[in-house]
Amino acid sequence: MSVESGSADRLFITGGTLVSGEGRMLADVLCEAGRITAILAPGHADALGVTAGQVIDATGRYVIPGGVDVHTHMEVPFGDTTSSDTFTTGTIAAAWGGTTTIVDFSCQRKGEDLRDSLETWHAKAAGHCAIDYGFHQIIGDVDETSLAAMRHLVDHEGITSFKLFMAYPDVYYSDDGQILRAMQTAGDLGAMVMMHAENGIAIDVLIAQSLARGDTAPRFHSLTRPSILEGEATHRAIALAKVAGNVPLYIVHMSASEALAEVAEARHDGFNVFAETCPQYLYLSLEEHLSQPGFEGAKWVASPPLRSHHEHHHRDLWRGLKLNELAVVSTDHCPFCLRDQKEAGLNDFSAIPNGIGGVEHRMELMYQGVVDGHISLERWVETCCTTPAKLFGLYPTKGTLSVGSDADIVIWDPVGRTRIGIDHKHHMNMDYSAYEGMDLSGRVETVISRGQIIIDNDQFLGRVGHGHYLPRTLSNYLY
Ligand code: URP
Ligand code: ZN
Ligand code: ZN
Repeated sequence: MSVESGSADRLFITGGTLVSGEGRMLADVLCEAGRITAILAPGHADALGVTAGQVIDATGRYVIPGGVDVHTHMEVPFGDTTSSDTFTTGTIAAAWGGTTTIVDFSCQRKGEDLRDSLETWHAKAAGHCAIDYGFHQIIGDVDETSLAAMRHLVDHEGITSFKLFMAYPDVYYSDDGQILRAMQTAGDLGAMVMMHAENGIAIDVLIAQSLARGDTAPRFHSLTRPSILEGEATHRAIALAKVAGNVPLYIVHMSASEALAEVAEARHDGFNVFAETCPQYLYLSLEEHLSQPGFEGAKWVASPPLRSHHEHHHRDLWRGLKLNELAVVSTDHCPFCLRDQKEAGLNDFSAIPNGIGGVEHRMELMYQGVVDGHISLERWVETCCTTPAKLFGLYPTKGTLSVGSDADIVIWDPVGRTRIGIDHKHHMNMDYSAYEGMDLSGRVETVISRGQIIIDNDQFLGRVGHGHYLPRTLSNYLY
């Protein structure tokens, strides 16, 4: 690819193959003042006199919408520590991987007002992001005040999705009655409920028993969170959503075949149930990663946990993505360094901060899924860019290459290669990579955010503070 400079406000991408969820076509893209203003059949630009400005030759490249990662945790407190990417380091890393929008989570602690938690998250992010960002709201304390505040957030703050937890008793956990009440309120508002579906009460019993036996190593994190308890919680969440009047429900970070079966059945029956998975649940496993010798496995402690590769979860999740039983791929980017952070659980896996960092690599890892034949090129764009924008009230501003959309664009080299690792491609603020050594097909070549080139040929050209807050609308795609 070559870039010719010209008017900074006008960008013309020529010769590339545009890929959307619906198909692919050779076309040129004109961007002006941060938006896409024309999509032209090849050769029509001269006649229309639109070649002035900066020109990118994308011959032989895919031109796709900027990635939309609707599940990240920058600067999130976990126990005594905080996830290691700030909104600055995390959004720069996202840009390096072709993601131009994130939706992070404002977290309400017990006793806190929802509005105060949102203010705290705005203060962390405002002026510090390299790409655009929005927030979901975590409700950690479902009570009358929180239920009333949900309306305020939808009506005035651009927050149209709320995450609840069936896991983590004493932290964010809600019981079934609280979940039902929050779902009823979300249903009245037309908002989406996102669910961390693991049976946290049963898991806590298994953790206590494991520690009492002396089974304290990282792999016991997975063995005390069996997939059947993810399936059970997913079933219960769907049942509660039905009782709440078929409120739109989105199961986050799905890792297990049992959970997928519940979602597939509900979707088949016409319920408004959606789910996401993450690259770690498609590529990493209990045996190869979490069970590494000594304390190494701590790098991959996240909830839900990595599953056994003997149990077909990976195969089923890939198939679910292909069949639209899984609608979205996000990262659940929640990075902690091994040294001084994960090490809190040296003698007790339950004290290891939960989370895996991967915001930089989602588009790359999922493109490998295209090359390996798991999903089509179109499905890659649909699950990583378009559907997340649709489900979370960002479409058509984000997630599509359409006239009027933000000029968030990735130019993808299909024959380039990406080697992930601390000494290779790694821009997240972590002292290891969860995907160390992976050598992938395809390469992010150029990343454009609202008409500005922010990555080009291994150079970050963006600006901290360029990223805007995205107030989100209620989604038109939930029913
Ligand atoms: O282990 C994880 N997933 N950490 C982030 C918090 C969450 O539950 O999404
Ligand atoms: Zn979660
Ligand atoms: Zn998460």
